[in-house]
This record gives sequence, C-alpha cells and structure tokens, in this order.
Amino acid sequence: MTIRTRPWWKDSTVYQIYPSSFFDSNGDGLGDIPGIVSKISYLASLGVDVIWLSPMYDSPQHDMGYDISNYEAVYPPYGTVADIETLISACHSRGMKFILDLVVNHTSDEHAWFQESRRSKDNPKRDWYIWRPAKYAEDGTRMPPNNWRSFFSGSAWAWDEGSQEYYLHLFATQQPDLNWENPATRQAIYDSAMRFWLDKGVDGFRVDTVNMYSKGTELPDAPIIDEGIFEQPASGLFCNGPRMHEFLREMNTEILNKYDTMTVGELPHTPDPAHVLRYVGSGDKQLDMVFQFDIVDLGIGRTHKYEYEGYALSELKSVVSKWQQFIEGSDGWTTAFCENHDQGRSVSRFGSDAPEFRERSAKMLALMMCALTGTLFVYQGQEIGMINAPKEWPISDYKDIESINYYNSVAERTDNDPKALGHVMKSIQILGRDHARLPMQWDDSPHAGFTTKKEGAWMRIHDEYRTINVAKQEKDPKSVLSFWKSVLKIRKEYRELFIHGAFEAYDIENQQTFVFGKRHGEDRAVVALNFTGEEQPFKKPDVGGKFELLVGNVEGVDGTEDKLAPWEGRIYLVS
Ligand code: GLC
Ligand code: CA
Repeated sequence: MTIRTRPWWKDSTVYQIYPSSFFDSNGDGLGDIPGIVSKISYLASLGVDVIWLSPMYDSPQHDMGYDISNYEAVYPPYGTVADIETLISACHSRGMKFILDLVVNHTSDEHAWFQESRRSKDNPKRDWYIWRPAKYAEDGTRMPPNNWRSFFSGSAWAWDEGSQEYYLHLFATQQPDLNWENPATRQAIYDSAMRFWLDKGVDGFRVDTVNMYSKGTELPDAPIIDEGIFEQPASGLFCNGPRMHEFLREMNTEILNKYDTMTVGELPHTPDPAHVLRYVGSGDKQLDMVFQFDIVDLGIGRTHKYEYEGYALSELKSVVSKWQQFIEGSDGWTTAFCENHDQGRSVSRFGSDAPEFRERSAKMLALMMCALTGTLFVYQGQEIGMINAPKEWPISDYKDIESINYYNSVAERTDNDPKALGHVMKSIQILGRDHARLPMQWDDSPHAGFTTKKEGAWMRIHDEYRTINVAKQEKDPKSVLSFWKSVLKIRKEYRELFIHGAFEAYDIENQQTFVFGKRHGEDRAVVALNFTGEEQPFKKPDVGGKFELLVGNVEGVDGTEDKLAPWEGRIYLVS
C-alpha cells in the first residue's frame, strides 16, 4: 500500500471572509482590505489556518463582486492590488495561507473581453462568450434560443440590440457566460484570473460554479417542471457537461501543478458520489476537494429555492453521512461546512435562534462541525453564533439580487398575491443570502463597531448586535467564540479521529437526535447531538468500550446522563 500523503490543506480550518461586510477601515460604510489586515490578530487567535477571501476584484457589483470586470484589479472601495499583497504577507507571517475566489464561468458585461465580444458578430472575441440567434414563435414573436431559466429569475438569455443576437447568462444579465470551448479564451482565463495572483503568493482558489464551464454546444430545451411559465430550471443540462473533466485537467497541467495550491470547487447539482469522486480522486486529479450542497439545500423548494418546504432531521443525517462516507476506500477528500455567503445562518436554519437557545445550539453545531471528516470551513460570524435578520425586516432591507428578483417575479406573476408573496418572504427569512452578508458584529458601539460612518453601513446591521458581538465574547470564557476556539483545538489534537476518521451514523430515522461515531484504527469517538428544544432520551450506541466525555456544551454534565438537554451536544472518546 502506498503511504497516504498529507498535504497541508487536509488538516486546515478555512475561514471565509466576505470583504464588504468584515470590517470598514476608512469610514465609508463598506468593508475593505486594510480592514481585514487590521483584524489579522483576531483571525490568528481563532486558530484557523487558511483565509479564503470572497471576490474583491473590480466589479460593477451587480452580484456582490461575482461579476468581475477586471481580474487583475481590486474594486477601488476595497483597496488596491498592493493591499492584497499586504494581506498575503500578513497571513503568511502568521503561518496562515491565503486563497481567493476564482470566478471564471462568467465575467461582468463590463469586462473588456465582453465589451469587444458584443461589438459585432465578426469581432475576434465574439466567440469568447456564448452567442446564439433568436428563435421566432409562430406569431413572429422573438424568442430566446432555449427555455433555460437563469439562477436569478427570468430567461438565461439576454438580447443584444447592437449585434442582434442573444448571449447566455446563467446568473444575472450582467454576468455573460464565457465560452470555454474556445482555447484562446481558456488561456486568457488562466493567465489573467489565475497566474496573475498565484505569482503574487496566493495559495489557491475556491472555484466558483466549477462544474458549469462545459455546456455542450447543442443547448437543448429543459423539461417543463414549473408549469405556466416559459423559463425552466435547467441545471441538469449545463452542469457537468461533456468536456468538464478535460477542462479541469488542462487547468491543472497548465497552471495549478506549477504551484503548491489548494482548490475547493463549488459543485452544485451533482448527486452521484461516483461522479464527485472523479473530481476529487487523485487518479484524475482535478480539484483537491469540493463543496457538495446537500446540507445547505435542505428544505429548498422543488420549483424554486425560495419556495421553502422544510426538512426532517433524518434527511440532514443521511446527507451528512453520504458526503462523509463517499471518500472511504478512495483517495479522494471531502469538506465540512454548513454556512457560506450564499446561505442563511446555521443557528437559524439547523439550531434555534430563540434567545434562550441560540448560544447552546451554536455550540452544538460547532461540536458537529469539528467532529466531521474533511477540510473544515467556517464562515465569518459563525464563530460568534450570528443569526438571521429579524423576521420584521421588510423586503426593502434585503439587497441580494437573487431574493429581490425572485420576489419581484412572483409579485408580477401573481399580481401581488399576498399569500404567494408571504410564502416567498418566509422562505427568504430562512434561506436568503443576505443573512450571511450582514456586517460583522464587532462590539456594542454604534453600527456594531463595523463602521464609523455616521449614517451606518452599506447594509443594515443586525438589531441584536449588542448581545451578539466579538468584544463581548472575547471576554467571556463561556461564549460561543471561546467554545469554537477550544473545539477547533480539540479537532487538531485528535486529528486522526476527527479530521481523517471513518464516519458512521446510528439510528438515522430518529428525528430528534443525531448520534454518530468516528473511528481510526482502535480509536473511537461518539458524538451525540440533540436537535430539539426539548430534553431527549439518549442511549449510548453499543460500540464496545468505555465512554469518557471529551467535551460538551452544557455545564455540570459528566457524560453518564441518559438524557440530552435541549440542544445539548457531547463528544465522547471510547476506549
Ligand atoms: C456562486 C457564488 C454566488 C454567486 C454565483 C455566481 O454560487 O457563491 O454568490 O452569485 O456563484 O457567480
Ligand atoms: Ca471602507
């Protein structure tokens, strides 16, 4: 047997920073790069190993920087390329790595490449994007080339008046999709979006929408599942297309293999573990690991994300088990995460944000995350148990294009039907991407210490910032923050079990508690989590051996109790 190699990224904890909402250093209301540099001691004190920064590139900000107009420049309100170089050195000097978001499925429509491409049908860069002629209905109405729906509502095609064709945009109209079929486009992407930053010392990338580059060339209509509307969800037709693996292989040979990097790909709509292994197995080396989205997709609507349907705990348990176990017996690698900038807060979704339970359930979720195999990802604010925006906030306090476009499309479609809109609003209160984008709560001074701007931050600050903030929790050894720091240490101390161990869930059908085991050789751990606000019976699974409580989130518990308090979590070592 070959010895399993241990690259640095396997044992790492990655902390994701959303630049607009982390810390504002110059009082303009918007977070910035010098603001991140000024918090470097805080980041180091958490015990995280890698900082992942969401897009800070120049951008007209239709999708919070995921619409990039220049890969080689920084959005001026965030700072400069030199500021990023300072941030890279600050991370490196603290022994932390630094990765960027690689967004190369699409650019902004203000990128110079697209500006040229749209100029005329015979422009040399025409083929760098995906252009198609119109179709015409029987009555002569101009129609897009197919019925694909964009992720942000409406058609995935936009008509370009100037050059009289449609271009494809899977996301916003202002985010035209690049044509990866063209080799010159691919080379330009590698050079501008990757090499430029790797040469400055960046340690890798989180790779945005990594399985959408290859769409085939036929672009057929999607089957109709959302009746009564032309545009249909089509992810099955543009994810994991025919040349996907070839493109990633090329990206590795041409660029990534020349540096010591980590890559984590965003891999939506890929339910088959064997397929995911093609991306992350070292045989076909394409990505070091991926985010598989089942856990954060729990409860999303069948026809549209914001038609929330709820979920059962057994579903959470089976998706966690599935994506823990799929690498066993292979040399692939997995990730553990339950938050990012596209999700509601985990305490509000999987725990309880009621005042009496939010701290305890935040700690319970921290226990779960720190016991899971794979590279662990923590999203800014998760370490202090930040929660979703209050339910009273009206839609006008939300900023995200995804929520707002969908809300408006339903308003239009139903002629402002209060029932339909009420359901959308309820879904947004749980799943809205804005919850994660609320400014970081640093202390109890005005605007949560995020900005000194008199009028406040670019986005409304959470009403609870006086009770949930970093300064308060740093002083309190029993805070969520202190708990996260200690369980991150425990994770490293028992790394074979928690980061690398084999996973096994017990009693999947139980809808109140989640009990699972971790095993490495003779060593075992058992994790018991109560996912309800009521006391629950707890029977130790029969794994043989003596149970010794390693860590828990309720005071005065010695581990012999056969009941779990509301939202209690425990980790036992079994010897
Ligand atoms: C990814 C990002 C999301 C963005 C989208 C388009 O899903 O995480 O924030 O809107 O890609 O780039
Ligand atoms: Ca600023």
